[in-house]
Amino acid sequence: MSKICAVFGGSRGIGKAVAKLLVQRDYKVVVISRNLDVAKATTEEIGGHLALGCDVSKEQDVHRTFQEIVKNVGNVNYLVNAAGINRDALLFRTKTEDILSQISINLIGPMYTCKAALRGMVQQHGGAIVNIGSIVGHKGNAGQSVYSASKEGLVGFSKSLAKEVARKNVRVNVVAPGFIHTDMTSSIEETSLDQTIPLRRFGEVEDVAQAVSFLLCSPYITGHVLVVDGGLQLQI
Ligand SMILES: NC(=O)c1ccc[n+]([C@@H]2O[C@H](COP(=O)([O-])OP(=O)(O)OC[C@H]3O[C@@H](n4cnc5c(N)ncnc54)[C@H](OP(=O)(O)O)[C@@H]3O)[C@@H](O)[C@H]2O)c1
Repeated sequence: MSKICAVFGGSRGIGKAVAKLLVQRDYKVVVISRNLDVAKATTEEIGGHLALGCDVSKEQDVHRTFQEIVKNVGNVNYLVNAAGINRDALLFRTKTEDILSQISINLIGPMYTCKAALRGMVQQHGGAIVNIGSIVGHKGNAGQSVYSASKEGLVGFSKSLAKEVARKNVRVNVVAPGFIHTDMTSSIEETSLDQTIPLRRFGEVEDVAQAVSFLLCSPYITGHVLVVDGGLQLQI
């Protein structure tokens, strides 16, 4: 199987670290995000194959993106869904548009990308998908009810999809990070949380990338959630 990997949300943060590691491991990596200029800059920096602009919450955009990849690089055998947003607030203060955008981007987006990628994977009888969830989905966190729902929804989706496509030799797994240093967590005061983390630090994007790469190439693991959280005891 050729090693063509589409990394949605690959321009920054966790997705960028995943894309960089996969390039080092001889994958042909397509970096995808809404901001094409940032995706292009990242692709150039890490030695990726192609940069594309796409909003994962728009099915037509996702469809067009896969057409571009097939035309310019080939069939996608590996897919990483790292595109995501958070709009943290107590539910009664959360705007409807923020509910919809978190569900559309974090949960429905990966449904669109998985659906689009699976056509080629099933045809070729092989492929692997890793969706980036969150430990917050599993444990819950005040101020993140909608985000949690989007991420735990992604786990249910991934586990069910893993069962649907296993006989086609396609694997689907989830990596659930704890608190990782990226733009998304830049406003959180690390010292307010490090006592709840047995490893006493936020994770780095490279820590998550290692887990993603492991699951992409582990031929007998599917329907699994790999937690990368430093042993977090989330009780906030
Ligand atoms: N950082 C953490 O502590 C942490 C913990 C648990 C889970 N996660 C999850 O890990 C994933 C990556 O998070 P991060 O911390 O690396 O975030 P980040 O640094 O903010 O990067 C987010 C990435 O997603 C892309 N993106 C956002 N909305 C998109 C859309 N509608 N369509 C396509 N791409 C989109 C962004 O590019 P554009 O803005 O240009 O589109 C960017 O490439 C997310 O799913 C997040 O929920 C993060």
